[in-house]
Amino acid sequence: MANAHGETGAVSLGDIARRASLPPGRCRELVRIARGAPDGDALELGANVGVSGAYLAAHMAQAGTGRLVTVEGVPDLADAARRTASIVGVEGTMEVVCATFDDALERLEGQWAFIFLDGEHVADPTRRYAEAAQKILMPGGIMVIDDCSEANGLDQIFDEVRDWPCWAKGWGDGRFGVLRKWDARSRVTAELQRVSSP
Ligand SMILES: C[S@@+](CC[C@H](N)C(=O)[O-])C[C@H]1O[C@@H](n2cnc3c(N)ncnc32)[C@H](O)[C@@H]1O
Repeated sequence: MANAHGETGAVSLGDIARRASLPPGRCRELVRIARGAPDGDALELGANVGVSGAYLAAHMAQAGTGRLVTVEGVPDLADAARRTASIVGVEGTMEVVCATFDDALERLEGQWAFIFLDGEHVADPTRRYAEAAQKILMPGGIMVIDDCSEANGLDQIFDEVRDWPCWAKGWGDGRFGVLRKWDARSRVTAELQRVSSP
């Protein structure tokens, strides 16, 4: 049977992690961006073996706010992500859900402070996940889309998504596309401060 990458031979978890996981520098940058999100829970679409999830969950455990739910469609990888969480000691903060992104987005409720999209890196599904994800992102919340590069056409999808009126701000660093959701309350507060200051 073929694995998630369409391969039929034996492939080690280490090989999968090397190919699919964010490198450490990118995981640290992801955490830096997540620090700018409001307090609350985080959602990751694309756990793989749990590397970026473990960074995010460790940050959340340290900050003492919220927990991470990370979604993975391949059962063996979801199990590996749970093992990673346990090895890193964040199993209490990181829940791995084995489901397709579409199913998870349909079932998940609540308002998320931070959402990381790191799945197929293909235009149409990414636009669809971004649309569903922005609806469950809290005001002021941050969404990051990985791999917004010209090579896979996600740079154009990111430009399209960034134009949606739900965002207060959007920026990219050549790989991550970052979006902050509009927060009417902080906008009103800022306006009031501006008009009431001498
Ligand atoms: C790039 S990897 C995620 C890497 C991980 N965020 C990290 O940096 O450690 C993408 C993962 O998403 C999973 N995936 C892709 N499309 C999916 C879908 N539609 N539903 C569920 N899982 C999916 C793949 O099986 C793969 O393990």
